[in-house]
Amino acid sequence: MIYQRVKGTHDILPAESAKWQYLEKFIRDYLHRNNYQEIRTPAFEVTELFTRSIGTDTDVVAKEMYTFFDKGQTSLTLKPELTAPVMRAFLQNNMEQVAPLTKVYYIDALFRQERPQKGRLRQFHQFGYEIIGSAYPETDAEVIQTIYELYRELGISDLQVRINSIGSRSARQRYLELLKQALQPHAAAFCSTCRERLTRNVLRLFDCKVASCQALLDARAPFLIDHLDQQDREHFAEVCRLLETVQVPYLLDKKLVRGLDYYSRTTFEITSGLLGSQDALCGGGRYDYLIADLGGKPTPGIGVASGMERVLLVLEQLKAFPESPSNLLYLIALGEMPRQAGFQLLTALRKQGLCVEMDFLRRSLKAQLRDASRAQARWVIIMGEDELARGQVILKRMSDGQQTPLNLPQAADEIARLVQ
Ligand code: HAM
Repeated sequence: MIYQRVKGTHDILPAESAKWQYLEKFIRDYLHRNNYQEIRTPAFEVTELFTRSIGTDTDVVAKEMYTFFDKGQTSLTLKPELTAPVMRAFLQNNMEQVAPLTKVYYIDALFRQERPQKGRLRQFHQFGYEIIGSAYPETDAEVIQTIYELYRELGISDLQVRINSIGSRSARQRYLELLKQALQPHAAAFCSTCRERLTRNVLRLFDCKVASCQALLDARAPFLIDHLDQQDREHFAEVCRLLETVQVPYLLDKKLVRGLDYYSRTTFEITSGLLGSQDALCGGGRYDYLIADLGGKPTPGIGVASGMERVLLVLEQLKAFPESPSNLLYLIALGEMPRQAGFQLLTALRKQGLCVEMDFLRRSLKAQLRDASRAQARWVIIMGEDELARGQVILKRMSDGQQTPLNLPQAADEIARLVQ
């Protein structure tokens, strides 16, 4: 029996990893250009970090976390998202002392025990970024504009930006009472989870996937955005105005509350018509209370995270990966002495910075030439007994078969010059 990978996980094989590398490099270059710096946090954290920040009634905490006890009986959880770990690192490392505004990004693997389907995995990857330290609407606009433009530069144009505001805590508290009053008389018509949510955490009703629950919400629920206070309204209006000035088209989605408890004010998602039912490329929002809730001094923040697999699915459909021409040199050495001399030449060429491979299977000339074609080598270097006896190697260009004999002592320098 061969062991199988765990359900909802993927192997990224060499043919595919080139696409990952392309995307990762693109993201890094782009975010560095926008003055974000990378932060890396551990694969697991104490469970309480997530229960406190994401919220015990959310799907992520209630159903999806990989939680285990270590040998010291401490409850640990494989990270299901990165905002809470980044805030933990921000506080623990006193990052507010380094700069008044912290701009960090991450590319990382995450774990959620969801029902796997296309675009939804149990181990998946996100890139994302956070701006910590400003409550002003320019920050919200920057976060949204930056990710929108990143997708556009990657070649994705079929994008829909949906935004909403869920207000400050005080406005939300008043609204939640209204929501409860409006829905309580219809409690029996909701699914059992929603009935529970109605008493425990009524905002989470908006996360329900059951169509009849959504229909009831459409018919009966007041919307948070209609109950914001003056400052929340002004903040949101300014975010919208700024997005308009930089031509980011958006739709107001009054039901967009996002499935994590730490949000306040601006929430947003960007979807792509090229994805199936899991159509969210990214989601994010403001979390002005999170740092204080985790024990820090009140510090506002906002960020976004995007599923790498989902971006790759879209790029795949758009065939938006640039061709990367091979620059491989394939060294064919035939016989014992040529193999030794070939190994030296291989090493010398690699020191020159060239991409060189040599056959380690001692195959025939024909088999090695076939392998060179398969590997899309641009050049082949042939070293046989006869060539070696003459103190030479042959450099062959694969595109037209042109052959150039070179003297062995100068071969590495000559080859480096000729293959440029
Ligand atoms: P989230 O909406 O839970 O937000 O996830 C963000 C993105 O991660 C989703 O839009 C989706 O592209 C991807 N994603 C989520 N779950 C899966 C999965 N099971 N398989 C594949 N992709 C998935 C957050 O995680 C917040 N921390 C975002 C944020 C950052 N808010 C503020 N700063």
